[in-house]
Amino acid sequence: MMRLTQGRILALKTLLHLGFILPLAYLWLSVQSGAAGGDPVQYVIHFLGMGALHGLMLSLLVSPLAKGLQMGGLMRVRRLIGLWAFVYALLHVAAFLGLDLLGDVALLLGEIVKRPYILVGMATLLILSAMAATSPGAMQRRLGRRWQQLHDWVYLAAVLAPVHFWWSVKSGWYEPALYLSLCLGLLAWRRKRIVFYQQIVTSFNRGLNRG
Ligand code: HEM
Repeated sequence: MMRLTQGRILALKTLLHLGFILPLAYLWLSVQSGAAGGDPVQYVIHFLGMGALHGLMLSLLVSPLAKGLQMGGLMRVRRLIGLWAFVYALLHVAAFLGLDLLGDVALLLGEIVKRPYILVGMATLLILSAMAATSPGAMQRRLGRRWQQLHDWVYLAAVLAPVHFWWSVKSGWYEPALYLSLCLGLLAWRRKRIVFYQQIVTSFNRGLNRG
């Protein structure tokens, strides 16, 4: 078992920051040099959406890895990864609104009707935003038990994000199906928290049966 010293955690954090910053630099250079293909706007939206999904999946991997490898120190990089996933998601949405819709909010309403998967993306972003806003240690202390309940919504985000992806693709199901399976696999790995959702579904069903 490798002990994660302060120095190693710092090195890991630096590597992770680079791992998220360098693809953004690559994206910028690809667009500038014309290497982003015939439809650069589509390329940028796709690149950032996939980045957000990868970040989200990586953040879900941290706690089972920390437990499996008995490296509790790994948990100290989870917030960083989650925040980067949020930054990518924000940039993905900004690219869609700014480059595709050219900032036309009225057009957005029309797009939601035409492409309802956008609503699923919005719900995912809402969850990620709530988690990012409450991620500082001070917020965690202030919210107490409610902090964990709020952050359990990440499991719903981990289902909504690949569903949004699958629904958005025009052809081919292999890649989104793979992502959805990986996300469900990650969730199954951490079954305990899923019980929380089972309880929600059970109470919901009870409510329906009563009504
Ligand atoms: C307000 C929230 C969001 C909006 C409006 C939105 C919008 C879009 C649009 C329009 C596309 C399709 C691009 C196209 O092929 O035409 C797309 C694809 C995608 N989005 Fe989102 N999205 C949102 C949130 C998110 C979030 C939070 C994530 C991930 C955590 C995400 C991940 C993806 C992925 C992986 C794709 C597929 C990429 C592709 O094949 O082009 N999106 N989104």
